[in-house]
Amino acid sequence: MGSRGAKKSICSIAGLGYFLPEDMVTNQDLAMFVDTSDEWIVERTGIRARHRVAVGEATSDMAYRAAVAALDDAGVRACDLDLILVATATPDTPVPSTGCLLQARLECPGIPAMDLGAGCAGFGYGLHMAGAAVSSGMHRKVLVVGADALTRITNYRDRQSCILFGDGAGAAVVGSEGFLDVIDSDIGADGRGASMIRVQAGGSRLPASMDSVAASLHTLELKGREVFKQAVRHMVDAIRRAADRVGIDPRSFNLVIPHQANARIVDAVGEMLGVAEKNLVIDIDQTGNTAAASIPIAIGRARERGRLVPGQLVVAVGFGAGIAWACQVLRVRER
Ligand code: COA
Repeated sequence: MGSRGAKKSICSIAGLGYFLPEDMVTNQDLAMFVDTSDEWIVERTGIRARHRVAVGEATSDMAYRAAVAALDDAGVRACDLDLILVATATPDTPVPSTGCLLQARLECPGIPAMDLGAGCAGFGYGLHMAGAAVSSGMHRKVLVVGADALTRITNYRDRQSCILFGDGAGAAVVGSEGFLDVIDSDIGADGRGASMIRVQAGGSRLPASMDSVAASLHTLELKGREVFKQAVRHMVDAIRRAADRVGIDPRSFNLVIPHQANARIVDAVGEMLGVAEKNLVIDIDQTGNTAAASIPIAIGRARERGRLVPGQLVVAVGFGAGIAWACQVLRVRER
């Protein structure tokens, strides 16, 4: 316990921001065109409503708003950044990258910008790569964004999946000094689980065609029950390994922030680790699963509610398509 939080930081979050679009889709709205009910959705997922990106807008529009909020929070100008990473499974277009579209909106030409695909673990992957970039000295200020518009690739005829997803974006300005130190970071993947969460058409394997569109193959399909089990297992294992590296019991994390996929998944993670209810973040009822945006939105909202207390240790863990997972231990500092 002597080493609790004493680990040197890899990098630090200097500013955090998130964006949720105004338009909301309630469970009652969904029950009008798919065979489901508010009761079923609330009981099985904890979700009551989710945000939906505005007509005519896309992932980069949400990413831009989250990025501006994070830059404001950090007191950093876009032109002071030296790397932009956008984690998304729903880029505005396959080509060019949403990172480049965001860079143009931020009016900082010349700064390297790219996308990163790790499904719902995307923000954690981005933070990990930002940590590598900052700690190696190759970059000084990295903008990491997790942004997704899953409602754009949702199959609204599939009652199992269409109830889960919402849109949003979260962003962090990452450097060597900030209010949230990243003291431990780990990422992993198992491509053997690729078919568990996937969009089959629209890529080079099965280019979009009349047939693929008619068969809804450009929408997200998932093996719900299997994903549920794997999500719990991998998030629990990732937190246990992180606790080991930091030298504490997993129950000693002051705040545990799992990917907000389903309240029952988060509950199961907390239960398996023996985390006290007050230390577990379940913040899904008004957002649904926002994929790569879920973790930064949950951290941002926990902070607004006064749940980030200086000196405390937070663990954030993501899990998603790939399958892929990411886990970071964060130490809260005075601002
Ligand atoms: N409304 C009413 N009934 C529904 C329903 C809905 N929206 N969706 C499924 N059902 C039915 C099923 O058809 C099934 O009926 P049956 O027993 O007659 O076959 C029954 O409810 C139970 O289905 P099951 O799949 O076992 O439910 P579940 O408790 O596992 O919940 C998910 C389904 C999808 C909500 C849950 O598995 C889940 O959240 N998985 C993780 C998915 C995810 O987050 N993926 C994103 C990447 S992290």
